[in-house]
Amino acid sequence: MNKRVGILISGRGSNMRSLIAAASEPGFPAEIELVISNVGNAPGLAYAASADIPTIVIPHKAFETREAFDRALDTALTNAGVEIVCLAGFMRILSDWFARRWEGRLINIHPSLLPLFKGVHVHEQVLQAGVRVSGCTVHFVVPELDAGAIIAQAAVPVEIGDTPETLAARVLAEEHRLYPAALRMLAEDRVRLEKGHAVFSPAA
Ligand code: GRF
Repeated sequence: MNKRVGILISGRGSNMRSLIAAASEPGFPAEIELVISNVGNAPGLAYAASADIPTIVIPHKAFETREAFDRALDTALTNAGVEIVCLAGFMRILSDWFARRWEGRLINIHPSLLPLFKGVHVHEQVLQAGVRVSGCTVHFVVPELDAGAIIAQAAVPVEIGDTPETLAARVLAEEHRLYPAALRMLAEDRVRLEKGHAVFSPAA
């Protein structure tokens, strides 16, 4: 049985598109059931709708507390029968409650080689540090920001003369390959979160 996936976005949704494209391939072990955005005019919403995927806007500003917003997210995901949640450019920090509730079933993509360069303005941080290699990471989400166990990573070179934009574009191309590959692993139960660590097992 294919796993039912919900994707949370806030913006252009290019990683969401890569997940939708992968899930439309025969044999992919997951289906995208729902896309939720906290931003009403997120460009990714129109694409999801054009791919016949149900979309919901849940504006975070309509809620008094972070957890009240997260409970609304949880209700929408649960009502759609979602089993795995993928964060794809979702620009809200989730409550501990939400992270614990979806523990092991909630993943994110981050545009650096974690645990280096957490948070925002990642490519600026990378260039400022002067490292010669960067990349992207798919990880389980835990209450602490960008700190969950790592599922998959891809490295890219930092080129002489890179700007945050040129580096971001090179990393993004790898993100689009890595995220579907990591979702496939999780959907096939080839990786699971156990006591804070990613435990891998071979394909059945
Ligand atoms: C990506 O770089 C992702 O790693 C980060 O936010 C960006 C989202 O881009 N978390 P997109 O909306 O998927 O195009």
